[in-house]
Amino acid sequence: MSVTRRALLWLGGRRGAQGIVQRAPLSRSVVRRFVAGDTLDAAFSAISALNRSGIGGILDELGEGVRDTAEAEQARADYATALDAAKRRHVDTAVTVKLTQLGLLVDREGCERRLASLSDQAESVGLRLEIDMEQSDLVDATLDVYRGLVASRRPPRLAVQAYLRRTPDDLRVLAGLKAPIRLVKGAYAEPEEKALQRPEEISDRYRELTEWLFDHHPDPALGTHDGAMIGFAQLAARRRGLDRRSFEIQMLYGVRRELQQELADAGYRVRTYVPYGSAWYPYLVRRLAERPANLRFFARSLVKG
Ligand code: FDA
Repeated sequence: MSVTRRALLWLGGRRGAQGIVQRAPLSRSVVRRFVAGDTLDAAFSAISALNRSGIGGILDELGEGVRDTAEAEQARADYATALDAAKRRHVDTAVTVKLTQLGLLVDREGCERRLASLSDQAESVGLRLEIDMEQSDLVDATLDVYRGLVASRRPPRLAVQAYLRRTPDDLRVLAGLKAPIRLVKGAYAEPEEKALQRPEEISDRYRELTEWLFDHHPDPALGTHDGAMIGFAQLAARRRGLDRRSFEIQMLYGVRRELQQELADAGYRVRTYVPYGSAWYPYLVRRLAERPANLRFFARSLVKG
């Protein structure tokens, strides 16, 4: 991982830096590229437009690392409202949560309760719940909460990160739970002893795990914009005699929009992850760190405001 990328991701975790950037006028145009808007309505407009083009949504209310129970409870209530509204408006969307947004760091049992209640509600309105994966020191807790939930419920889709050295072992356990997986490369700054660092080794591992998903998990989802990874998944499906609807390709709002459309037009199942809300700072920093060209875009808007 480059020094710039590591520095940016480090900044992403600093609350002081967050205050400065969120107040700066620079941010609006950069934010607008990656975030659908401040409100649930804005997110639904973005998802409805995607739906009209044959692409599903994955609704994400921005927020993570919440520091008190009231904030976690508010996030649960917001998601409950979103699930009901999605059902009422007949929007084709999944809904994704971060466990630290539901209070994993402040009150583990409360987090489990909030997740269970959203899972039940998602089930009752017929929408899929998904769970993002956060920093490596939260993976054990995330898997514990997930195991507890699926002991008595339909498993939500869980994101796993190809760059973590532990992920092949985690997937062996998750396969036993029949967990639907979203495979991503991984977006956080992680130390060498925990995570692969070189892009080629991460891609090799991503391919290996794609094969594993097709063989051991229901309804694989590939969360990537990398044409080589998508091509590999298409081939993996074909080699198994599976059709284009047998797996899902997931991408982020504002990233490789034409490719999303091309794949949907070719008959693949595509979903776009659509974030909304005001807590966009750490999310935006991860997006900027993923691609050097985004930094130039960011620098230009610093000048233009
Ligand atoms: P890679 O970074 O190699 O990018 C391939 C190409 O895609 C680039 O060359 C560029 O053209 C384009 N691209 C990628 N990122 C871009 C960006 N930010 N801006 C502009 N262009 C870009 N991570 C995590 O740790 N936990 C999670 O739960 C999730 N969830 C998640 C959901 C979904 C739907 C997606 C698509 C991604 C995630 N991620 C994630 C993020 C993931 O780990 C990873 O950081 C990004 O997807 C970038 O990796 P790619 O696989 O796209 O490849």
